[in-house]
Amino acid sequence: MKKFRIAIAGGGSTFTPGIVSMLLVNYDRLPISEIKLYDNYEERQSSIGKACKIMLRERHPEVEFSYTTDPEQAFSNVDFVMAHIRVGLYAMREQDEKIPLSHGVVGQETCGPGGIAYGMRSIAGVIEILDYMEEYSPDAWMLNYSNPAAIVAEATRRLRPHSNIINICDMPVSIENTFAGILGLESRKELVVRYFGLNHFGWWTSITDKSGKDLMPQLKEWVSEHGYESNTEDFQHRAPSWKETFRKVKDVYSVVPDMLPNTYLKYYLYPDYVVEHSDKDYTRANEVMNSREKEVFTTAEKIVASDTAEGYEFHSGAHASFIIDLASAIAYNTKERMLLIVPNNGAIINFPANAMVEIPCLVGSDGPEPLVMGEIPTFQKGMMEEQVAVEKLVVDAWVEGSYQKLWQAFTLSATVPSAGVAKEVLDDLIEANKDFWPVLR
Ligand code: NAD
Ligand code: LMR
Repeated sequence: MKKFRIAIAGGGSTFTPGIVSMLLVNYDRLPISEIKLYDNYEERQSSIGKACKIMLRERHPEVEFSYTTDPEQAFSNVDFVMAHIRVGLYAMREQDEKIPLSHGVVGQETCGPGGIAYGMRSIAGVIEILDYMEEYSPDAWMLNYSNPAAIVAEATRRLRPHSNIINICDMPVSIENTFAGILGLESRKELVVRYFGLNHFGWWTSITDKSGKDLMPQLKEWVSEHGYESNTEDFQHRAPSWKETFRKVKDVYSVVPDMLPNTYLKYYLYPDYVVEHSDKDYTRANEVMNSREKEVFTTAEKIVASDTAEGYEFHSGAHASFIIDLASAIAYNTKERMLLIVPNNGAIINFPANAMVEIPCLVGSDGPEPLVMGEIPTFQKGMMEEQVAVEKLVVDAWVEGSYQKLWQAFTLSATVPSAGVAKEVLDDLIEANKDFWPVLR
C-alpha cells in the first residue's frame, strides 16, 4: 500500500502539532512515510519541530520527520502540502483588529478592513508556497487553510488557475459538529447538507440524515432560541468571544429564518453591535496569544525538556480532521462530499461563474467536483454580490498596486459606514503594513 509524504507549510503554526497528532492517529486510514515541516521563521518552527520529533519517535518511529526553512528540502518528493501560514504573525493580526476598531469599525481577522489587510499580506505568501510545491513536486496537492481564505482563493484562482490547490475552512465543519450535538447524533458525518455562500459568508439550506429525514425543523427550533450555543464539545471555540458569537447566531438567523447561517455573518449583519461589544484594547488576537499560542508553545517546551511526549497532548479538532479527510478523499478517490471553496462555474445558477464560492463538492483523485446548488434568493444574492466584489477588488488592488481599488474595496464592505471612514482606516492600515503590502499608487 502506498504511503504518503506530507509537507506542512507554516510549521510553526499553533495548529501544526494538532495536525501531526491527527496524522498519527489516522495512520491506518492514510498511511504516511514522511512528514516535513516548513516555515520561514526558524526559531518559532524549531520549538514545534523538536516536540513533534519526540512525539513521532515514540508513536510512529517508522515515519521520517524533519523541519526546515529550505524550500527545496521541504517541498521535494511530497504528495500533499498542508498549508496554514499567517503572514505577519499575531502582531499584525492585532493591528488588523485594533486599527479599524479605533475608527469605530469592525476589527476582525477575516471580515471587513482587518480581513482585507490580512489578505493583502497573505497573497504573496500563499503563492510562494504554491510555486515551491509546483517546482519541486509538480503532482502534489496543496490543501490550504491560510486565511483569509476567500481573498486567498480569489487570488489563486486568478494568478494560478491551473494549480492543484484546494482552499478550505473548518468553520462549517465545527458548526456541523454543533448541529450533530444538538440533534444527539454521534457525528457530523451522519448529516447530508446543502450549503451555499462565500467563505465565512454562507447558509445551510437543507440538512437531512442519510435516510433523507429532514433535520432542519429541529435545528431551527433550537437556533431560534439558543443560536448555536449548545453542550457540544468544541475546543477551538471555547473562548468567551466565540461563545458570544455562537449565541449571536440567534439574531443572525432571524434575518433569514429559512436557512441556517455561518457564524461570521454576524460581522456583516450586525457591525454596530460588534463594535459596541468589542474591547478595542483587548481583541481576539490578544485572547489567542494568551491562550492557544501560549498553551501550544508551553506544551512543546515541556516535551522537549522532559524528552518525552508521554502524558502531553496537543489538541486536534475539526481543523485537523477535515484536512485529513480531504487528503484521504484525493488519495483514495472516495468521492466524499465536503464543503470547499471552488470556482462557481454555474453551481449557484444566478451568481457569477468566476466567483469563488463555498459549496458541497464530491472529492476524488482529480480534485473537487462541485454540486449544483441552484438559484439563490435576492437578499443573500445581494449580500454575496457586494462581498464578492470586495474580494475581487482586493486582488485587483494587490495585482495592480492600486490605492483606488483598495479604497473601493473598503468602501464597499458592509462593515464600513462610508467612503470617508474607509479612507481613514485604509491610510492607517497602509502605514502599519508597509513591510508587507505592495506599494499602492
Ligand atoms: P501562527 O502565527 O501560529 O502560525 C503561522 C505560521 O506561519 C508561523 O510560524 C509563521 O512563521 C508562518 N509563516 C508566515 N509566513 C510564512 C511564509 N511566507 N512561509 C512560510 N511560513 C510562514 O498562526 P495560526 O493561528 O496557527 O494560524 C495559521 C493559519 O491558519 C492562519 O492563516 C489562520 O488564519 C489559519 N486558520 C484557518 C482556519 C480555516 O479554517 N481556514 C482556521 C483556523 C486558522
Ligand atoms: C484562530 O486564530 O483560531 C482563527 O483562525 C479563528 C479564531 O478563533 O479567531
